[in-house]
Amino acid sequence: MNQKILSGKRGIIFGALDERSIAWKVAEKCYDAGAEFVLTNAPIALRMGEINELAKKTNSSIIPCDVSLDSDMDSLITKSMEKFGGKLDFILHSVGMSYNIRKKNSYTELDYELMKKTLDVSAISFHRLLQTCMKHDALNEWASVIALTYIAAQRVFPNYNEMADTKALLESISRSMGFHYGKAKKVRVNTISQSPTLTTAGSGVGGFDSFLSYAEKMSPLGNASSDDCANYCVIMFSDYTKMVTMQNLFHDGGYSFTGASAEVLNSMKP
Ligand SMILES: NC(=O)c1ccc[n+]([C@@H]2O[C@H](COP(=O)([O-])OP(=O)(O)OC[C@H]3O[C@@H](n4cnc5c(N)ncnc54)[C@H](O)[C@@H]3O)[C@@H](O)[C@H]2O)c1
Repeated sequence: MNQKILSGKRGIIFGALDERSIAWKVAEKCYDAGAEFVLTNAPIALRMGEINELAKKTNSSIIPCDVSLDSDMDSLITKSMEKFGGKLDFILHSVGMSYNIRKKNSYTELDYELMKKTLDVSAISFHRLLQTCMKHDALNEWASVIALTYIAAQRVFPNYNEMADTKALLESISRSMGFHYGKAKKVRVNTISQSPTLTTAGSGVGGFDSFLSYAEKMSPLGNASSDDCANYCVIMFSDYTKMVTMQNLFHDGGYSFTGASAEVLNSMKP
């Protein structure tokens, strides 16, 4: 996919931690499609330094932002507008952190202070981002904003723990903000519900390897890779998807609508 369908578009990409990050692939594909963008991550993640390589490769600058801080969000949006000398056309929110999973607390033994932090960083941050953009009138008409989510928002996957509730909130914020921002400025807001993908955040979920192969066997097309996800983001940022908003878009090789597959049923034979 080498057409420059994002030529002239400017944006912000959150969440590229290392080469495995979905956001990393999105940055590479957006660059190939002709976009200009700012890369951002939490200061602690930036200290790992890997993002510098991506910035060099994609000719982009890095602006730190801990998404749980209003002041950081404000500074990211204003500095990005200053850098581009105007408004933005696309944003990827690719941010997730479960503080209870990190502490190995099970879903029925959650620490609520940690849960509040999880909700703030992984879901409310999407509201903070869009509200800050509105405050600064930072987005052009028809701009496209995407957050990444997972089907545990709709169905129970026990090991996904508090992130299931967090993703449900994220998707709801996306719909509500899609309505308000659509009415106010014709900005579109969607979530992409991605297949399980081997990344730092993904592998934090208990039993991830078996889960990955279960999903692979259940999906008629197999699991969608992070490269595939990045291609989908590019088309969602482009003008080809101008009228798509307030949707939760499954990008999972058909997993979400499959009840059973021969591979899984065969492995269940008594
Ligand atoms: N990997 C999967 O299986 C999978 C599946 C569906 C959806 N997703 C979602 O995709 C998104 C990206 O995750 P990934 O799998 O690429 O993993 P990742 O670990 O590479 O990315 C998560 C990012 O969130 C950032 N982050 C955490 N706390 C932050 C904070 N306070 N401020 C700013 N940034 C912060 C991390 O630094 C990291 O870059 C997440 O929302 C995740 O839930 C992942």
